[in-house]
Amino acid sequence: MARTATPRHYLMVRPTHFDVEYSINPWMDPGKPTFAQLAVTQWEWLRDLFGELGHRVEQLDPRPGLPDMVFAANGATVLDGRVLVARFRHTQRSAEAGAYLSWFRSRGYESVRQAQWVNEGEGDYLVAGSRLLAGTGFRTSPRAHAEAADYFGVPVVSLTLVDPRFYHLDTALAVLDEEMIMYYPPAFSDESRRVLEDLYPDAILASAEDAAAFGLNAVSDGRHVILPQAATTLIAQLRDHDYDPIPADLSELLKAGGSVKCCTLELRT
Ligand code: ARG
Repeated sequence: MARTATPRHYLMVRPTHFDVEYSINPWMDPGKPTFAQLAVTQWEWLRDLFGELGHRVEQLDPRPGLPDMVFAANGATVLDGRVLVARFRHTQRSAEAGAYLSWFRSRGYESVRQAQWVNEGEGDYLVAGSRLLAGTGFRTSPRAHAEAADYFGVPVVSLTLVDPRFYHLDTALAVLDEEMIMYYPPAFSDESRRVLEDLYPDAILASAEDAAAFGLNAVSDGRHVILPQAATTLIAQLRDHDYDPIPADLSELLKAGGSVKCCTLELRT
């Protein structure tokens, strides 16, 4: 039985100024060449795909000097029209927050606030049905979780990441629909693994290879799941679970430690 897609509303940032100029995660090697034009072509493919799947995509203008700005997921978390703008861990990215504050304010969102505590938006906050799954360990401060629970008025499940390769929750876990997730257990502390097993006994578990290929950095509309093409076993697992996986090639963005989900901020109004 095929699963049901629901139309989504996304915010994206074109990688016009994309580059790897510094290293704030183990994937980033400033010595390796990048090709901004290829990054743009790969990103446009993703943006156009969202449109073909019936989703609405808005764009926020990239700013020069912010080479990681393409990773829109990190800019904010939006739930029930309430916007909590990120506070970045690293100074190299902190100026991105201002762009999100202005964008959301200019769009007439009524409640727009920059978080007091360090958090990197949907990099570490994943909305799963009525709860917010919240990562910590590398970027988002554990104190930010209480702030998010308070601001959005939803239960927050704190999860601790332990492997620096999976520095954001969205590199180790993807929400497929209100009840279903897929994740890579070794990226989490023992206690967090127990929490996940309890909440999601039927979750899809990713292999080490697929997790390392960024397979969990996926975007799902409840039916179509867009994920890096190299995560071949995960693609088969998704088919077995009646999802429609769509393989993506975002090889340029992988050089900065990001892929499909990192480029996509969901606007929930
Ligand atoms: N280079 C960026 C950083 O380290 C990549 C961010 C990826 N975004 C994400 N949602 N995981 O901050």
